[in-house]
This record gives sequence, structure tokens and C-alpha cells, in this order.
Amino acid sequence: MSKSLIIFDTTLRDGEQSPGASMTQDEKVRIAKILERMQVDVIEAGFPIASPGDFEAVKAVASVVKDSTVCGLARATEADIDRAAEAIKPAASGRIHTFIATSPIHMKEKLRMEPDEVLERAVWAVKRARQYTDNVEFSPEDAGRSDVDFLCRILEAVIDAGAGTVNIPDTVGYNMPGQFGNLIKTLIERVPNSDKAVFSVHCHNDLGLAVANSLSAVLTGARQVECTINGLGERAGNASLEEVVMAVRTRQDVFQCDSNIDTTQIVPASRLVSNITGFPVQPNKAIVGANAFAHESGIHQDGVIKKRETYEIMRAEDVGWATNRMVLGKHSGRNAFRQRMQELGFEFESEDALNSAFSRFKDLADKKHEIFDEDLQALVTETGIEQSNEQFSLVSLRVCSQTGETPQADIVLMIDGQERKTSGDGSGPVDAAFRAIENVINSGCQLQLYSVNNITSGTDSQGEVTVRLEKGGRIVNGHGADTDIVIASAKAYINALDKIVAPEDRAHPQSGQAI
Ligand code: KIV
Ligand code: ZN
Repeated sequence: MSKSLIIFDTTLRDGEQSPGASMTQDEKVRIAKILERMQVDVIEAGFPIASPGDFEAVKAVASVVKDSTVCGLARATEADIDRAAEAIKPAASGRIHTFIATSPIHMKEKLRMEPDEVLERAVWAVKRARQYTDNVEFSPEDAGRSDVDFLCRILEAVIDAGAGTVNIPDTVGYNMPGQFGNLIKTLIERVPNSDKAVFSVHCHNDLGLAVANSLSAVLTGARQVECTINGLGERAGNASLEEVVMAVRTRQDVFQCDSNIDTTQIVPASRLVSNITGFPVQPNKAIVGANAFAHESGIHQDGVIKKRETYEIMRAEDVGWATNRMVLGKHSGRNAFRQRMQELGFEFESEDALNSAFSRFKDLADKKHEIFDEDLQALVTETGIEQSNEQFSLVSLRVCSQTGETPQADIVLMIDGQERKTSGDGSGPVDAAFRAIENVINSGCQLQLYSVNNITSGTDSQGEVTVRLEKGGRIVNGHGADTDIVIASAKAYINALDKIVAPEDRAHPQSGQAI
């Protein structure tokens, strides 16, 4: 295949802009590592000016990722660009992505700038970014609603100024596939120096067309697609990485290009992102949904047994679905555990971290005979791979729940190294447990989401709970897994509380702020 398609993943930046999807630094690093293993070409790790937390997260990703380019987003301002440059400094290969809006409505109402001022500012921003790195990307925000003549002018100017990638965003998901493909074709034909830059696309899913629009653009010359795992992103999300990658891989006859993606990492990455953000994947979601390769009708099952290709255009194992098998049990040793965790992409950075995770594994193996890959992933999703240094933890929990009686929870918590007993009642055992915890912590948080998923099948499966809490505009997700879902719920609640105690102010890259 002669032409290659660059995959630019923005799960950690645009994905994180999904309301409720905020991630900690450790969570971002874990997602970045799996993206690197997947051979994603560019990882947009965040928006460094947004908050000290975002800056540190981009820096941490830039420090650990070696095989993918790490990118930081910046508006067309000195402070943004300098901060992004600082954050990506440790990267083996770094990129600054700078942007300014070009649609009439954004220029007039949001930026309050004339088109010529916007063009001048874009050129200035690219030149400033080029002082730090040769790898600069420019996006005319809301290109999908911008004037084509103006887009041609600004793209020619930024390419001249040194932008090696020009990204055309359909920021509000307004375009139709044919229209968007034509836009890319027109720009490539009309911008005189278009051969000096890679044309990229960044499509939002407001009308459910992000993948279709991205693929239409690939057909007319786009060589980079910006996308996210599970299609996470602002509002209805971005183009989903797994759908773009598998469409191109499966229909190379149509696209005449392919990406470098190791597709066997797709399902593990989808699970990790879903676990961390607490956004479940719908069962009928293409590629990564639980039913994506399930055949219910007898006719289909019969066909697949006779010849798989009768009803399957992709192989489940090619996208990483081969994992649902028994891997370890209570007699497995530390080395087998370490090795399987490595195969799943989790590296222990110290013997203590390994020992702590292994002891949690042994506790689980005592309760549950068969340990699946999904159980192992949940084991580290709760607290991360490192030994936890949490302020709050669950020591013990007893709940009493019976028909006709108000459920009651008695809990012992460890708070800053000291045991505290607490109790509470509620409308159900989970409610009673949360109230008991609040009776001693008094966090003042609002519960925004409570969700339980079974990790594997069977009634001995672990329940994996996500709790989303909000306080003063800051949102965090907590996770807990246990074969007892009330315990899993209490752990998830405590995990979320642990994260919310150090609030950070976060800015939003597309907040109407003038530059
Ligand atoms: O949707 C958008 O326009 C963006 C830009 C910052 C590329 O996310
Ligand atoms: Zn976007």
C-alpha cells in the first residue's frame, strides 16, 4: 500500500472535553501508553494552558511516550504557545497544535476580530510555535462553516509560515459527507502550496456523521484523521478511532491507503477509556460493542459456523476480542501474574507496586475461581498500577438490608492513617453506604453518575462501579470493583472523594474567551 494514513488521537484532549470525562494524570499516562502500543502516530495529550493539572499531564505523557509524537494544543496566543512548548519539551517527538476560529460567526461574535487580523494572528502563532519545534499543526476552527476563499488564503499563509500539518475541523458537526469531501478536495486543489503540508480532518459527531465525513475526506486527499477512542469528545463526540481505522483497513480497495495501527489493541484501549471515564460502550457500537461480533439469529449462526465470512467482514481477534478466557487462578504465582499484566500492557515500576497488586489479585482469586483478563484490568483501574497513596480507604463494610426495613450500613474508613467508624441509612444498601461515608467526610459533593457493570459473565462476576462526583465545577470519576457490588460501590465513592480533595481550576480551550 503506497499511501499511509496518519492517526492523530485526541482522546486525552478533545475526549476529555466530554462533560464528565475528566482524567487524572495517572489515568492519562495509562491511556497514552496503550495508544503508543497501538502505534498511534500522534497523541494529543491535552491543552497545557488550561490548568496546572493539564500542563503536568501533557508533560508526564511527553516524558513516558517514546514511539508516538506527543502534541499539546494552544490557542494563537503567546502564553498558550509558550506553555504548550514547555509541556512537550521532554518528548522524543513533540508537536504544537495551534488554532484560531475562521468562520464568520466565530470571528465576529467570539473573537471580535476582522478576518485580516485573524489571518495575521494565525501566521504569527505558527511562526512563534516554529521557534520551539519544526512540527507545527494549524487548525482554522469551525472550518466547516468558514468561507472557502478565506480558508484558502489563511492555509496558504500558515503553510508559508511553517505549518507542516493543516487540520480542517468540522467543529460543530454541520457538514454532510459529500460536502466535506469536496471541501478537502477544493482546498488541496486551490491552495497553491498544499503539497508542502499534510491535510488533516477533525470531525465532530453532532449529526452522527463524524466517521462518514472523515472517510469522505480521506477519499479526496486527507492524509491525517483526528479521532478518539470510543468516539469520546465534546458534545456528541469526535470520529471514533476504531471505526475509521477498521473501515480503512477493511476497505483498502476503496481507500488506497492504510494506517500503522496495531488493531489488536483496539478493544483493550476501548475498555480502558470506558473504565476510566465511566462512559459505557453501547452494546451495538461498531467494532468495540459487546454485540459487534455476536450472532443471534440461527441463520447467521449456521452461516458463520460453515464459513465465517458469510456474516463477518472482520475477525474479532484482529481488533482484540480474543481475551474472554480464563487466564489465572488462585494457584498462579507472582511471575505468571506479572507476565500476564505485562501482556495486557501494565508495567510495574517497583516491586512494592507488583506486590500490592498481587495481593489484591490473591484476595480476588479467593472469592472468584476463574480470573479473566477483564478482572485483571479492573484490579488496576481502581487505584492505578502504582501503590496507592490515598487519603481515604475502606477498611470494612457491613450492610443490613431486608424487606420492610430501612437498609443500614456500618463502615470503618481509614482517613489519613486513622481508623474512623461511621454508619448511615438510606433507601437501599448503596445509598446507606454513601450516606455513612458522607457522615464522616462531609465532602459537599454532588453525585452525578452511579453505574454498575458486570466485568465478566456469571453471578460470581465482579461488579465494576463508576461514581462521578462534582464539586465547585470540578468533576471526577471514581472506580471500584468487587464481587460484592455494595463494597465495589463504596470503594468507587471513596476513590472519587480521594481525587476531588485537591481541586484545580480548569479552563476550556474553546471557551468564548477572546485571545
Ligand atoms: O473541534 C475543533 O475545532 C477543535 C480544534 C481545537 C481543532 O477541537
Ligand atoms: Zn474538536
